[in-house]
Amino acid sequence: MSPQRPRDLVIILDFGSQYTQLIARRVRQCHVYCEIHPYNIPADTLRRLNPRGLILSGGPSSVYEPDAPTPNAGLFQLDIPILGICYGMQLMTHQLGGQVAPATEREYGSALLRIDADCPFFSGLPPHAVAVWMSHGDRIQQLPPGFKSIAQTDNSPIAAMQDASGRLYGIQFHPEVTHTPQGLRMLQNFLYGVCGCAPGWTMQAFVEPAVAAIRDSVGDDRVLCALSGGIDSTVTALLVQRAIGERLTCIFVDNGLLRANEVADVQQRFGPMFGQSFVSVDAQERFLACLQGVIDPEDKRKRIGHEFIAVFEEEAHRRGTFTWLAQGTLYPDVIESVSRHGPSVTIKSHHNVGGLPEVMRLKLVEPLRELFKDEVRELAIELGVSEDLVWRQPFPGPGLAIRTLGEVTEERLAMLRHADVITREEIRAAGLERDTWQAFAVLLPLKSVGVMGDGRTFEHVAAIRAVTSTDGMTAEWARLPYDVLATISRRITNEVRGVNRVVYDISSKPPSTIEWE
Ligand code: XMP
Repeated sequence: MSPQRPRDLVIILDFGSQYTQLIARRVRQCHVYCEIHPYNIPADTLRRLNPRGLILSGGPSSVYEPDAPTPNAGLFQLDIPILGICYGMQLMTHQLGGQVAPATEREYGSALLRIDADCPFFSGLPPHAVAVWMSHGDRIQQLPPGFKSIAQTDNSPIAAMQDASGRLYGIQFHPEVTHTPQGLRMLQNFLYGVCGCAPGWTMQAFVEPAVAAIRDSVGDDRVLCALSGGIDSTVTALLVQRAIGERLTCIFVDNGLLRANEVADVQQRFGPMFGQSFVSVDAQERFLACLQGVIDPEDKRKRIGHEFIAVFEEEAHRRGTFTWLAQGTLYPDVIESVSRHGPSVTIKSHHNVGGLPEVMRLKLVEPLRELFKDEVRELAIELGVSEDLVWRQPFPGPGLAIRTLGEVTEERLAMLRHADVITREEIRAAGLERDTWQAFAVLLPLKSVGVMGDGRTFEHVAAIRAVTSTDGMTAEWARLPYDVLATISRRITNEVRGVNRVVYDISSKPPSTIEWE
């Protein structure tokens, strides 16, 4: 199921670059719809998709290695504009009769570009001192026949090239990273000027075709949606609601593992939004019972997952027959690991509702499958979702259970909840909420000695975890000001009964993870 295909499509062929998704996000930022496909996509499929242009990503290989990723034959004869970035440029050179060789010195970092020719790709840019980001070990030794060099740096005599038709471009640098400040301009030049794309991909334009596509797929059936309180499931449910109205049922499961005031917030927010379609299930006791005595984090996750499916299934069963499950799967989940492993796309099931569709034999409706997170946020604003929800920090499906290290009991959860709300309140009060990807408290499975008044105490330790990140895949510990940390610590030890010590986690990911589990 996908919304009606927007007119202009650009395809990014992935040769294994760490920046492939970033290229796609930048193209979308230019309001052009794009998809990432494996480098060896069959030529027929490519022709059927009928893209306006192709972008060949970078990659870690060298074109002259025996197992270097090579696209299917005929790619350069398709008569479609192509932009080769780094490895993509080297591949273009190698396949079209030029020569690529190891550079005497690897070029890594910022370089200054001198633009030699007046060409559409560099339109509107100054002729020299254009900062670009380099990261390569190979370079173009000899241009393919019919190509000319259009830019150079001190270390790369051919930093950009163009063929005689003006449809094929190769660039040695990375226009997609922020260290190439004019990169977006270059991509716009390629997309609008070379490929002839119109900047028509907007979230405003996304809504109606997406709603129509849901209506087409679902027909007269009924749809279930697991509403978590997060932005992805909210936006999913809103689109489905627009498509089929009351034939949507949203189930919110209160698993007892949510943060302070969260259940009331969800009920107040979604009750009016979804009316009769919104169902809130109090399953706190069931979840606590299934977690009794469990310490192993993976075991916790499994039990929570199974219990969730059981509660959801029972509740759905009581409400009649459903054919579809609406899920907030995003594009990064869909394309994860598409790249170098060839055309077999591994699709990750959404980890919060994993297993549901199979167990309940439901068909999937996934209206966000083509969107990046930043697009979902834009779409949310388009659909009238309030800013606090749009910018809510990620919260894991298994909730506070994976932040309560050791056994999850009502008493320990209450302690954590209290420490957590203080942490988040103080970070918000300091105006740092948007600067952190996530900030929360963790309850450790140990006690330590302290002193309170004249007495010795032997109580719990709370850890504060605050990180900066752009996607949760890597993270840096947030350099929170000492006085904010001091206030958090003082308030927790004063206000949370049972906690006498607060520590701050200064580990980055990797090697640590964001959650402690
Ligand atoms: P880690 O701990 O692996 O977490 O560094 C990376 C990001 O994923 C979030 N996370 C989850 N999100 N369901 C979710 O929706 C989950 O089961 C889950 N587990 C981890 C985590 O909060 C962080 O943002």
